[in-house]
Amino acid sequence: MENKARLIIGEKEIGLPIIEGTEGDKAIDIRALRSQTGYITYDPGLANTGVCKSSITYMDGEKGILRYRGIPIEELAENSTFVETSYLLINGRLPTQRELNAFSVMLNDHSLVHEDMRHFFENFPRRAHPMGILSSMVNALRFFYPELPDEEDEINITFARLLSKVRTMAAMSYKISRGHKVVYPRHDLSYPANFLNMMFDSPVKPYIIDQDNVKALNVFWILHADHEQNCSTAAVRLVGSARVNLYAAISAGICALWGPLHGGANQRVVEQLQEIYRQNLSPKSLVEKVKREKNFRLMGFGHRVYKTLDPRAKIMKEMAHKLVSKLPERDPLLDIAMELEDIAINDPYFRERKLYPNVDFYSGIVLRALGIPLNMFTVMFAIGRLPGWISQWKEDRDDPESRLYRPRQIYVGENLRHYVPIRERGS
Ligand SMILES: CC(C)(COP(=O)(O)OP(=O)(O)OC[C@H]1O[C@@H](n2cnc3c(N)ncnc32)[C@H](O)[C@@H]1OP(=O)(O)O)[C@@H](O)C(=O)NCCC(=O)NCCS
Repeated sequence: MENKARLIIGEKEIGLPIIEGTEGDKAIDIRALRSQTGYITYDPGLANTGVCKSSITYMDGEKGILRYRGIPIEELAENSTFVETSYLLINGRLPTQRELNAFSVMLNDHSLVHEDMRHFFENFPRRAHPMGILSSMVNALRFFYPELPDEEDEINITFARLLSKVRTMAAMSYKISRGHKVVYPRHDLSYPANFLNMMFDSPVKPYIIDQDNVKALNVFWILHADHEQNCSTAAVRLVGSARVNLYAAISAGICALWGPLHGGANQRVVEQLQEIYRQNLSPKSLVEKVKREKNFRLMGFGHRVYKTLDPRAKIMKEMAHKLVSKLPERDPLLDIAMELEDIAINDPYFRERKLYPNVDFYSGIVLRALGIPLNMFTVMFAIGRLPGWISQWKEDRDDPESRLYRPRQIYVGENLRHYVPIRERGS
């Protein structure tokens, strides 16, 4: 029973293989468990279940470590761009200058959205949430752009299409929601500068690109680019495992990300801070409310994997300070957030449960400083997470061990009973 975990059930003993990852992660391979014993495992929320072997992102929730393809998030945030990090995630290594140039050209070449798609945008109700619009539009891309072929070059074009068009569509939906003229992407601008320009340029007031804002947006997207098997990535892999087209799998990821327990938290954090500000509440009273009311949560706090400060939150906080210091008026929400953080991390309720600020706690302040409207916050997260979804989808497609996702359950419903005709059911 070398390198095997021994499992004893009643009189029976079986050996289950132990798998070890390159950073020492250990897992028990239970694939033969049911066929050998008749048992399955029970793990709601899959918190203890490895669903794949992955070489994309490494995180250690106890130590607060996050690396993409082995490179620490801090180094990428400091030195890389979102486009370069996307290349790294999708291709597994940093590009040469020539490869990076070619990738950037490809993103520019595919940045326009089919004009017919504008009719879709124009007919959504004005109050439709941009995340709902984005997931529908990404799904619709399939009808405007060819099916994913098998040749690697062609697949790369589809990846570039998604990365580039989602950014254009996001800005387009904002412009249309305001009843303003759509601004087209420009070949001379970098990926984030192009986005800011499409969002804020107008015929009456040309947008002046601020390089600090461009840098901040690069960092914001790098920090969101992948996070191993989170809810939306698991959704992309699960839907992708049915071998649907890539657009449908990404659209499913966008829907999952929308949820307030996941990407939607960045919008909810700011709403919570605004409530404190508008109602002149004390941050302490919010913390007390969280402790009193079981179902009321402090948004931007806690994480399934991190049991210490989320390394992304540290970078985001520094960036929030830098951007807010440049604003003509200080954002009062930053001060409220800092006070709230200070009270919460020193409170026994949060300490005992190891609840620390996550990436969303300060990301809203960064987005506000960039002028991004509240209902676009989760869309900003979605643009950032795209390279992660694409690389995870690709890894799953190429993995010989990948299978159709099909979890089991433990049935706890009625035992066999028979159909009763309606006239015999009483009143
Ligand atoms: C992210 C999150 C869903 C992780 O949840 P999880 O791993 O399933 O953790 P649980 O829901 O089991 O919570 C464990 C305990 O901490 C508490 N808790 C977790 N997050 C909390 C929060 N943000 N505020 C208050 N209490 C929280 C739970 O009530 C639970 O308490 P209990 O042991 O007394 O029942 C959760 O922390 C959360 O809802 N956070 C707020 C939303 C958010 O910021 N999401 C963005 C994540 S990047």
